[in-house]
Order: sequence, then structure tokens, then C-alpha cells
Amino acid sequence: MNDELALISREKLPDALQVLLAEYPREGWEKDPGFDGLIRFWLDRHLMFRRLMKEMSGATDLLLDRKMAPDQFGATLSRYGGMFVNGLHEHHTIEDTYYFPKLIHKDKRISKGFDILDADHHALDEFLASFVTSANGVLQATGDRAKLQDQGGVFQTELTRLEKLLNRHLVDEEELIVPVILRYGSRELG
Ligand SMILES: [Fe+2]
Ligand SMILES: [Fe+2]
Repeated sequence: MNDELALISREKLPDALQVLLAEYPREGWEKDPGFDGLIRFWLDRHLMFRRLMKEMSGATDLLLDRKMAPDQFGATLSRYGGMFVNGLHEHHTIEDTYYFPKLIHKDKRISKGFDILDADHHALDEFLASFVTSANGVLQATGDRAKLQDQGGVFQTELTRLEKLLNRHLVDEEELIVPVILRYGSRELG
């Protein structure tokens, strides 16, 4: 994967991979007759990951401003962090196992995009591991207010970085995959 396409530095999909998106722009997805339950369900999962990150970030802001009690923060982060990490692992596994191998053959013009998505998943594994480490760091500090403040700051930085990277992946993945499904159907995806 060259640097421009790597998740950490990518700013958008290369133009060559946006040919189907040009035919199926995002604004028209919901009105397209091919927009079905599977697409909606899958986009809702992405929305859920974005919301969970927002919830964790909001709770961390409150903690750092001393407007949320450490115990309440701990419970909130454990709950949302667990849903986020487990949900994302499961989601990537389904995409790697069922979606990508079928969709990659649908349209040669954009098949290279799936290499980018696959590389993103590997990159995200590492960023997620680092996210988990900093989440555990903040959770283990809930009994010590000064330490909690420091660890909370570290965690907020980590979360902001992950939010940016994951959002890049989600946007590009949506803009590769939804046009393919609208064009070729979702029957084989079950
Ligand atoms: Fe993905
Ligand atoms: Fe996804």
C-alpha cells in the first residue's frame, strides 16, 4: 500500500475508484430502488460506531472538566468501549469474510479499492489495540483523581485520533460499497 492510500495519510479515495460513486452519488442512495434493508442495516452499524465514539468523547470531556464523577465515567467508558471494540471486531470479520470477497469481483474498475479497505482493517487493528491500552489506563486510574485527569487527557487524544481514522475508513468504505450494491444488487450477501 503506498503512503497516499494508507489510512493514516489518505484524504480521500483516488479519483479512479470513484467512478461508480459518480453514477451513484451519496445524496441519491436512500431514494434509489436498490437501497434495501441490508444497506440500511450496514450503514446503521457505521452510524453506531460513530455515535459510540461521540459518547465516549463527550463523557471524557465531562470528566476532564470535573463535571462527571469518576465512577460514572468508568461505568460509561466500560460499557461504550466494550460495545465499540467488540462490535467493530465483529463487523470487520463479517466484511472480510462475507462482503469483500463477493463484492471485489463485481466491477473491475473499483476492485483495487478492496485492497485499501483490507489494509485499513489491519491498520485499525493496531489503532484499536492502542485505544484499548489507553482506555484501560484511564479505567485503572478512577481511584486517583490527579492520575485520572492525566490519563483522561491521554485517552482523549487517542480517541480523537481513532475517530478521525475510523471515520476516513467508514466514509471511503461506504462510497465504494454502496454504489456496487445499488448497481449489482445484494442478493448474494444474504
Ligand atoms: Fe470496514
Ligand atoms: Fe464497515
